[in-house]
Amino acid sequence: MRKKFLKGALFVAGIFFTVACNNTSKHKQSTESANSLPNAIPDSAFFNAKVDNKQVKLYTLKNKNGVEAAITNYGGRLVSLLVPDKEGKFVDVVLGYENLKNYRELKENYFGALIGRYGNRIAKGRFTLNGKSYQVNVNDGPNSLHGGANGYFKQVWDVTKANGQMLELTYLSKDGEEGYPGNLKIIVSYTLKDDNSLEIAYHATTDKETVINLTNHAYFNLNGAASEEGITNHLLQINADAYTPVDSLLIPTGKIETVKGGAFDFTTAKAIGKDIGMKDRQLGYGKGYDHNFVLNKHRDDEPVVTLLSPITGIQMKVFTNEPGIQFYSGNFLKGEDKNGKGGVAYKYRSALCLETQHFPDSPNQPGFPSTVLSPQKAYHTVTTYSFNTK
Ligand code: BGC
Repeated sequence: MRKKFLKGALFVAGIFFTVACNNTSKHKQSTESANSLPNAIPDSAFFNAKVDNKQVKLYTLKNKNGVEAAITNYGGRLVSLLVPDKEGKFVDVVLGYENLKNYRELKENYFGALIGRYGNRIAKGRFTLNGKSYQVNVNDGPNSLHGGANGYFKQVWDVTKANGQMLELTYLSKDGEEGYPGNLKIIVSYTLKDDNSLEIAYHATTDKETVINLTNHAYFNLNGAASEEGITNHLLQINADAYTPVDSLLIPTGKIETVKGGAFDFTTAKAIGKDIGMKDRQLGYGKGYDHNFVLNKHRDDEPVVTLLSPITGIQMKVFTNEPGIQFYSGNFLKGEDKNGKGGVAYKYRSALCLETQHFPDSPNQPGFPSTVLSPQKAYHTVTTYSFNTK
């Protein structure tokens, strides 16, 4: 009887021990990597935290075809975008992290983020408005990039509407924040539509004249974010006969140059890798493509960009009412750590950005379309990323 009891007790203790160990190892794994599976929405628990006294969360939108978009209100970031490949398998086509900690601590600041007050560069962070000069935060050598060191990509946005297919984020950028004039009230909505498109609509009003250039900084890889294949095999077509060449610090010279026949000619679909290694001063400055393309006149329902992965067959079309697009071929990604989704390192040219925008440094370039917003007007732009397979 006693022996039997002892045996039973040992058995129960054994079970406890095993469960406890499993829990610890599971917990350990989870704190390091929220979700070791690529092509899955991260565990929302790893985004639940208070930042600047505001609640951060991860929100998932889903359409009738099973396409999913995960967005966090920390930086208004698109964290995951799962779309079907040519075999119907869901692939996450944007780079990002599986937990908030990585977004806050790791060096790559802009993954999937909303960018403002001024997307891309302002030379020396200086401009003049109504005869008054402004100095904004300088964070890229002598220049200002993506709104300064504490741009919108680091701010907690308020969630003002959320339903299964739409998330509305609001942010009040105060007068003087990062050096910019005017209290700017911004509303951005992400809408996942049943035609497998993700629309980002930007709306803003100011109480003082200011400059504004909002965009999203998603890094796309249509082979999959966790894929070993980079983006140089993607076929890219850009509806742009011209681009804005830059100086060695990536500030536009003010010229608008034809792309005809050269490395920047994507008027018909071409593999990104085809000319990227060409001996070309502009490619040298960008360490690859990192340039603003001047979009040809187009209707709102005509794509300005078509991108295709020959491996997955995933095709993305970009629609926008902006005059330009920054094509950045991920030349500064270094793959220094394995903190990417599924534990991968995001290597050199493992993703690309297509940032719809007004041209860089427009506040100092009278020949470029104006980025001035006055209190009498409202800012409104719309960009849509639409997916299908080929
Ligand atoms: C810029 C690049 C910059 C990158 C940072 C792009 O929009 O054009 O020069 O390195 O953002 O992620």
